[in-house]
Amino acid sequence: MRTIVFIRRAGIRVAAVAALAVTPVVLAGDPPAQYAASCGACHAVGVAGAPATGNVDAWAPRMAKGMDALVASVRNGLNAMPPGGLCNSCSDEDNVALITYMATAQ
Ligand code: HEC
Repeated sequence: MRTIVFIRRAGIRVAAVAALAVTPVVLAGDPPAQYAASCGACHAVGVAGAPATGNVDAWAPRMAKGMDALVASVRNGLNAMPPGGLCNSCSDEDNVALITYMATAQ
């Protein structure tokens, strides 16, 4: 009986260590969490005139409008870009991070 308890405890410890080992590490320069499921759908390759992610030249005239104007464009939508850019849960701060990521050379 004692032996069984010991084995069970050891098993739990091994499981905990394994869980720590697979925790994903977010590296600097990685896209924000919402990117792949929302903005990336159009901006990854520049669908329908969307400035492509990492294309600094394409983003330059957009960035010249100022971050507040760009966040407003995402919130309200702009031409082929739907309001929210397919991310209903993104806050203004999230959108700043997403825009900054897309406008930066990768
Ligand atoms: C369905 C496709 C689509 C998705 C999804 C999308 N965009 Fe866009 N986005 C566009 C297109 C097309 C334009 C260019 C609009 C134009 O100027 O006519 C654009 C333009 C922009 C601009 C420039 C706005 C301006 O005022 O010049 C920003 C900033 C932007 N997108 C951010 C985002 C962010 C952040 C997300 C994700 C939350 C996102 N987009 C998701 C299609 C998309």
